[in-house]
Amino acid sequence: MRVLVIGSGGREHAIVWKLHQSPAISRLLCAPGNAGIAELAACSSVNVTDIDRLIELAEAERIDLTFVGPEAPLVAGLVDAFQARGLAIVGPTRAAAQLEGSKVLAKEFMARHGIPTAPFVVCDSPQAAHRVIASGRFGYPVVVKADGLAAGKGVTVAETREQAEQAIERTMVERAFGAAGERVVIEECLFGREASFFLFTDGQTIAPMPAAQDYKRALDGDRGPNTGGMGSISAPELIAREVWQAILDTIARPTVEAMSAEGRPYRGVLYIGLMLTQEGPKVLEYNVRLGDPEAQVILPRLETDLVEIGQAIVAGELDRIQLRWSSRATACVIAASRGYPGRYEKGFPISGLDEVAAMPNVVVFHAGTARSDEGEIVTNGGRVLGVTAWDATLPDAINRAYRALSRIHFQGMHYRRDIGT
Ligand code: AMP
Ligand code: GLY
Repeated sequence: MRVLVIGSGGREHAIVWKLHQSPAISRLLCAPGNAGIAELAACSSVNVTDIDRLIELAEAERIDLTFVGPEAPLVAGLVDAFQARGLAIVGPTRAAAQLEGSKVLAKEFMARHGIPTAPFVVCDSPQAAHRVIASGRFGYPVVVKADGLAAGKGVTVAETREQAEQAIERTMVERAFGAAGERVVIEECLFGREASFFLFTDGQTIAPMPAAQDYKRALDGDRGPNTGGMGSISAPELIAREVWQAILDTIARPTVEAMSAEGRPYRGVLYIGLMLTQEGPKVLEYNVRLGDPEAQVILPRLETDLVEIGQAIVAGELDRIQLRWSSRATACVIAASRGYPGRYEKGFPISGLDEVAAMPNVVVFHAGTARSDEGEIVTNGGRVLGVTAWDATLPDAINRAYRALSRIHFQGMHYRRDIGT
């Protein structure tokens, strides 16, 4: 099998690392990849949303199966374009990827099918949005969401009327997120613990992944600005059995069934962001991909061959395989550049990677790294590395990840010290 992975972050390194273990692979390619991925796969510097060039690459390399990491190419129709050329690819079509691409469509979909989510209204002008806020119908806090993709920054949980009005101005008038802010969803604020639920599906069969949790704030104690994620954990005990069953029965299965019933079957990985409220789990958002850094803690627990899973999804035969997951716990701590998620510098040499590579039950997934002209591995992004470890218990996995991280250094390295606590 000749397999292509699209993307360049820690999630894609984890996907490549898992695929690399498959005996079915004869050639592994990644576009564009990073310095860590380049140790396992041939990297080709094609942009993830350059659909024409990705097709050229897949055809020139006679690729048998493609995995997609990030959402942007999926929402842009990469899967449709590959399928039109007869190229096998794991992921939702453009129509199905609207679950992440448009919060308006996702909310309307949930409302149509009785899938639990916060009550909401859709506004297509700032005037209409201001009227909803002025009515006070959702109370405070109230949540204002840009419709389109906004790199995780399009949501404001507004404590006051002023904050809600500012969010509307920023999104719809100043267009801080571009065309993503043409419409907004205004919704009731939900309370409870947040949880993420990941599954593989071929449009019919659902194969849930183990629970994982990410830590979004930049600083210890969940302080500081939101980031893409500063760490993650996965362990059998993260979501209670009854809650797990409720998510499957009231949310995950109805979502996949309704997408098929609407004529846009969902295939690939579905990531459901949830609030575990007193009334039961409710959907905050859908994502059409693996989470990052959740992938870094989920994939090391996967015992089934990922190539087999990908092939089964493409063939619509996921019911034929039984996924196996290890009961071990995993933890991932992100080493970030000073200044992230704001402005940061790049190009600092990273030391200690060789030492950590020799440690058992540890793997360092590269997020933003590159190889310098001198051949050194240097920082090349806000999130630089995801130091991941596994062990029998979560505390041991966390300790192991921090022990490994203590050997790694680069100028301005910043990380949270409370992942998993
Ligand atoms: P989203 O991209 O929709 O998941 O929103 C990003 C974050 O905003 C979520 O992870 C929650 O922390 C928060 N959020 C979104 N919607 C709500 C809601 N209705 N109630 C409370 N918090 C929310
Ligand atoms: N870790 C959150 C995300 O991947 O969206």
